[in-house]
Amino acid sequence: MPAAAPHLHDHVDHRPARAAVAGGEARTAIACEGMCAGYYGRDVLDEVTFRVRDAEFVGIIGPNGSGKSTLLKVIAGLLAPQCGFVEVLGEPPGHARGVGYVPQTEAVNWTFPVSVFDVVLMGVYGKLGLFRRPGAADRRAASDALREVGMHEYADAQIGELSGGQQQRVFVARSLVQNPQLLLLDEPIAGVDATSQHAIFTLLEERQKAGMTIVATTHDLSCVATWFDKVLCLNHRVIAYGPPDEVLTEATLSATYGSHVLVVPEAQAAVRSAQV
Ligand SMILES: Nc1ncnc2c1ncn2[C@@H]1O[C@H](COP(=O)(O)OP(=O)(O)OP(=O)(O)O)[C@@H](O)[C@H]1O
Ligand SMILES: [Mg+2]
Repeated sequence: MPAAAPHLHDHVDHRPARAAVAGGEARTAIACEGMCAGYYGRDVLDEVTFRVRDAEFVGIIGPNGSGKSTLLKVIAGLLAPQCGFVEVLGEPPGHARGVGYVPQTEAVNWTFPVSVFDVVLMGVYGKLGLFRRPGAADRRAASDALREVGMHEYADAQIGELSGGQQQRVFVARSLVQNPQLLLLDEPIAGVDATSQHAIFTLLEERQKAGMTIVATTHDLSCVATWFDKVLCLNHRVIAYGPPDEVLTEATLSATYGSHVLVVPEAQAAVRSAQV
C-alpha cells in the first residue's frame, strides 16, 4: 500500500521518454524526466530530471522539506508521480523487482513488538516468495549482516528499545540481506555516530563495487565528497546534479539551502581533502 496518500493520476505517460532513455549509452538504473509529485494536489517536486546509472552511488541533499524523501518514495513506487516520466530498472516505479527501500526512521512504527534479528530476517522474505520459510542459510545471512553493522549483540532486543542510530543500523542490515539491485536509503546515517557512519558507508561501498546501485539522502555534507559518485541538490526542483567536485560550489549550495549556508567551508574542505 502507498505510504503517503498518493494521487492516482492516469496521465503519466511512460512512452515518449522511454525511447529517449533506450537511445542512451550505459545501462540506466533510474530515469526521471520532467517528473512532478506531491500530496493532496500540492506539488512538492517540480520538473525533476536526472538519471542514475548502474552501480553508481548517488547522494541527494537539500534542506528540510525540499522533497528528498518524496523523491525516494516516487522511485520506490510508493507515491505516484503526477506528471513526467519515471523508470526504475527498466520498469515503471513499483513494478521493478530488486528495489530495496529504507525509509527515514521517523516514518516507522516502533511500537510493533519484534526482535532485532527478526527485523533483519524479514529482509529475506521478499526474496523467498510466499511459500518458503527462511532456512539456516537465511538466518546466517541475517546474523552476518547484523555483525557487519555492529549490532550482533542486540539480536534478541526489541527493535523499539534501541536508540535511533542503532535502529538505523539494523535497517541498513536488513537492506543488505535483501541484496537488492537498487538500494534507496533515506538518511541512513542520521543519528548514527561517526565510527558507525564510516562502517555503514564502507559496507555500502563494497556492495556498490559488487554492482549495487545506491541512492541515499543525507544532511551530512561532509560525507558527500568522500562516498558519493554524484550529488543531486534538491529544493523542490533539481538545483544541480553531477560529481561532488563540480556540484559542491558556494553558488550551488546557496541556491539549494538559501543564502545563509554555514556548511560551505566544511563542505568545500571535504571536497578538497577527497581530491588529494
Ligand atoms: N504524507 C504527506 N502528506 C502531506 N504532505 C507531505 C507528506 N510527506 C511530506 N509532505 C510534505 O512534502 C514536503 C516535502 O517533504 P519531504 O519529506 O519529501 O522532505 P525532505 O526533503 O525529505 O525533508 P527532511 O530533510 O526533513 O527529511 C514537505 O512540505 C512535507 O510537509
Ligand atoms: Mg526526508
